[in-house]
Amino acid sequence: MKIDVVTLFPQMLDGFLSESMMGRARSNGLVDIGVHNLRDWAKGKHKQVDDRPFGGGAGMVLMPEPIFEAIDSLTAGKTCHRVFLTPDGEPLSPELAQSLADQDHLVFLSGHYEGIDERAREKLFDQEISIGDYVLTNGTLAAAVVIDCLCRFLPGFLGEEKSLTSESFEGRLLDFPQYTRPAVFRDMPIPEELLSGNHAEIDRWRQRKREERTRERRPDLLED
Ligand code: ADE
Repeated sequence: MKIDVVTLFPQMLDGFLSESMMGRARSNGLVDIGVHNLRDWAKGKHKQVDDRPFGGGAGMVLMPEPIFEAIDSLTAGKTCHRVFLTPDGEPLSPELAQSLADQDHLVFLSGHYEGIDERAREKLFDQEISIGDYVLTNGTLAAAVVIDCLCRFLPGFLGEEKSLTSESFEGRLLDFPQYTRPAVFRDMPIPEELLSGNHAEIDRWRQRKREERTRERRPDLLED
């Protein structure tokens, strides 16, 4: 899979792209991620990318020209899915992440300041995505969250394929509690069901805990 990210803050992604599983997936060639500075497509001595909003008001708006130039040059002659990150986009979900993982080439634009010129939003993007009902200073971390989430659906990204099917949200339930050694730590023993060696009993216990935890913390998931 090929992913391009256009942002004004490319260095924000350095650690994310080189550490841990994402770093490994990139060195293995599972995913090829290009990070591009929007300013590289800006014109003039000052490489201006933003300007005051028509109609007045606070803040600056990203100008359409560098955005059109960036997206055109990254997508010319290619089939790709173009995504703009914004708090008023479609909420990220496991289903949405899976549908992105099915694409061959994704291009993300991270917004900034008071937004971007609406003409760019209307003409250039196939989808707008939000990572939650809060506002970040810019969409670069949102792009990282979406990429992290979708890469977990790429075959071979997770060591054990099964880790995808036994975690929070699978079957619309939160995850069960996990324990590791020692079996007693500071007078806190682990639940005895986990020591039974009886896999059917352990599965039943885990399912019960998933239901209890979901009922306590996210009853909305059960209503859905
Ligand atoms: N940019 C700023 N806030 C955002 C959010 N919540 N989701 C996606 N992009 C954003």
